[in-house]
Amino acid sequence: MRAVDLIQKKRDGKTLTEEEINFLLDGYLDKSIPDYQMSAFLMATYFNGMEKDELKTFTGKMMNSGDLIKFDGIDKFLIDKHSTGGVGDKTTIALAGLFASFDIGTAKLSGRGLGHTGGTIDKFESIKGFNFPQTKERMVEVINKTGTGIMGASDKVVPLDKQIYALRDVTGTVMSIPLIASSIMSKKLAVYADGIILDVKVGSGAFMKDLDMARDLAKTMLQIGDSFDRKVVTVLTDMDQPLGLAVGNSLEVIEAIETLKGNGPADFTELVETLVAVALQIKGDAATIEEGKAMVNEMIKSGKPVEMLKEFIGEYGGDPRLVDDYSLLPMAQNMIEFKAENSGYIGKIEAEEVGKSAMVLGAGRATKEDLINHGVGVVLTKKIGDRVEAGEVLAKIYFDEDINLESSIRLLDGAFEIVSDKVEDRN
Ligand code: URA
Repeated sequence: MRAVDLIQKKRDGKTLTEEEINFLLDGYLDKSIPDYQMSAFLMATYFNGMEKDELKTFTGKMMNSGDLIKFDGIDKFLIDKHSTGGVGDKTTIALAGLFASFDIGTAKLSGRGLGHTGGTIDKFESIKGFNFPQTKERMVEVINKTGTGIMGASDKVVPLDKQIYALRDVTGTVMSIPLIASSIMSKKLAVYADGIILDVKVGSGAFMKDLDMARDLAKTMLQIGDSFDRKVVTVLTDMDQPLGLAVGNSLEVIEAIETLKGNGPADFTELVETLVAVALQIKGDAATIEEGKAMVNEMIKSGKPVEMLKEFIGEYGGDPRLVDDYSLLPMAQNMIEFKAENSGYIGKIEAEEVGKSAMVLGAGRATKEDLINHGVGVVLTKKIGDRVEAGEVLAKIYFDEDINLESSIRLLDGAFEIVSDKVEDRN
């Protein structure tokens, strides 16, 4: 078999066999197939896509390129909720308290942030002393004790994806549905959970800007899950504006805790309720999403999720008292208000720009080496559809040093659009 023949076959829109895909990926792994041939194959895939069987083989090969993680000795129903990434997405923090309250276990690998979206690991690291499990045994222990197992993404899980993603990044082949779907699903399938919930973000601040493309991605990931006999549910959610109000690490931790206390912003509360309802339906505890949401509502009123979050924080080495005393979290020294110049309705809040305005203050990384300042960020006071008068506060900027304050304000200024006609409320 020769790589060039397989590249031509894909270029001509034909379907590759299992043996042929294995040949290509094995060859890429053992370096007998060079980057330029793999790049050509990825570009041919970009234009011609992959059939169901090809996707199954491709994803399976990626998944099996490293460690497969199965947690033995856990008697809880395990859910892995994954989001394709968005600005202000602090869902995992709120779910830690809620899933545990319903005796649903969490088993997931999370990442650090790069660019305009923050990483879950960074958000939790706002908590002084917070230590993620480093071994499978410790994961099993924390899941059994607190319900929540979250560990840092490992280079040993699906190493082939890392190699191929790096190549896609520099060859214009990232935005291919089969390649994105197989990349995400190989990592989800490599870590065993009874149910996988995929929150596919759509909109200006998301990886998927376009609704049709997001639907296509969701459908393809469901198909892959099905090929591997794994229970997968996808939820498409709005990322045309930041999720909730807070963007920045400890600010987001506070908003997630407030949501568990029943005081969260409407859009974030709705997302959290929906995701837990989906988990309850997968587990068989709720017949419908509506029933699940009602259960979540009652659970929040009971106060149990806050108690479960405290247990989780304590087990991971943090001080659980922070749940009732936010001064135990890092907080920026200064705050300024960003005000509206005109009156009208909020027509747009570009999530990506808000993410960047927090990032330049130190809430995120522009390069992998950058250090995070956990106390800084932006808290919106208005969302799309809200009425605003000139001079009214649109957002609060929390900062320590003013070196990048100007650019943060400029980015925020570019994020907001105020229009004169009434806009549909999307809170
Ligand atoms: N996220 C991934 O993990 N892989 C992709 O290809 C795109 C987004």
